[in-house]
Amino acid sequence: MELHGIGHRFDGVRALDRVDLEVAGAEVVCIVGPSGCGKTTLLRIVAGLEALQEGEVLLSGEVVALPGRQAPPETRGIGLVFQDFALFPHLSVADNVGFGLRRWDAVDRRARVLEVLEQFSIVDLADAFPHTLSGGQMQRVALARAIAPRPRLLLLDEPFSGLDSRLRDAVRDRTLHDLKASGAATLMVTHDPEEAMFMADRIAVMRAGRIEQIGRPVDIYYHPASPFVASFFSDVNTLHGTVRDGAVATPFGALPAEGHQDGDEVLILIRPEALQLAWAGEGDHAANVGLVRAARLLGRSTLVHLDMPRTEDAAFLHLHSRVPRNVAFGEGDEVAVTLDRSQVFVFPASEPVSVRPE
Ligand SMILES: Nc1ncnc2c1ncn2[C@@H]1O[C@H](COP(=O)(O)OP(=O)(O)O)[C@@H](O)[C@H]1O
Ligand SMILES: [Mg+2]
Repeated sequence: MELHGIGHRFDGVRALDRVDLEVAGAEVVCIVGPSGCGKTTLLRIVAGLEALQEGEVLLSGEVVALPGRQAPPETRGIGLVFQDFALFPHLSVADNVGFGLRRWDAVDRRARVLEVLEQFSIVDLADAFPHTLSGGQMQRVALARAIAPRPRLLLLDEPFSGLDSRLRDAVRDRTLHDLKASGAATLMVTHDPEEAMFMADRIAVMRAGRIEQIGRPVDIYYHPASPFVASFFSDVNTLHGTVRDGAVATPFGALPAEGHQDGDEVLILIRPEALQLAWAGEGDHAANVGLVRAARLLGRSTLVHLDMPRTEDAAFLHLHSRVPRNVAFGEGDEVAVTLDRSQVFVFPASEPVSVRPE
């Protein structure tokens, strides 16, 4: 799939602005962004459910939509899965899965339906009707129905958000393997950054109708292009500073501020896992030592709340550190803090930081 310069307005209000995006065969690309940023609109345009206003849509190198000239949805070879699964209530599971194969020869159709039911481990549900299924089963049937006609592109819009959180993890895992096994190119939309990292070969981060950054999860997490992208993928500690001699002073020593001029005001974003903690000892500089205000085990990690002395005034700086597993530190303990610089990002102070949605 190739999208070039997609633009869209609703009643004069811009919902999409010059969106370019490609998905290769067998690739899973996730579009992630806050609610209302245009994700569903983009998917609907690709599917042909929304008339294209600006740009072009290509599938397998062939133009399927230009403004005023578009191939009908059913001719595009696209499979769709929506948040509410949209199963046909009056059809059995087998008939739902076979729905896209209506024009196939009856023998081939039956064989393909069976093959897909087996692939998705839902053979025993073949005669069941949708209202008797659990949420996880409905999701599998919806995905099986979308994959059965061997689409060249699968479009998934928040396909897991209707499931409760424990079930969601299991269903996501199976879906990832099913998608990879099917070999279809997949464009999936989610508002959940962790889900995007779990599913995606590449992630496109959208904000207010535009793609702000696109890349592999590791590129986006370690090299965010903006404060918005950095703060979308995790909680971040925010510091302000001024560049002097190519560096900016922090409680953890001077940080290089490449690409910034002396005198520039900068924003420093530090992921909680970048603040590494050890018991404060004799040799530690007072400037590096923080006071633990609280430590809370969150399951996979512990969030430690710290007060650090500021470099330029007497006030304290409140920071969050995330450490793997449980820790022995508690309220009132002094800890030496060191910084993993790969998780620290310096941006011009003029760029707005946005807090995570939720
Ligand atoms: N049919 C519509 N009519 C008018 N405005 C719409 C319509 N669909 C979406 N919008 C607006 O377009 C923007 C993008 O919506 P949407 O694509 O649904 O975002 P997302 O899926 O990222 O939450 C929002 O501001 C939304 O209110
Ligand atoms: Mg949406």
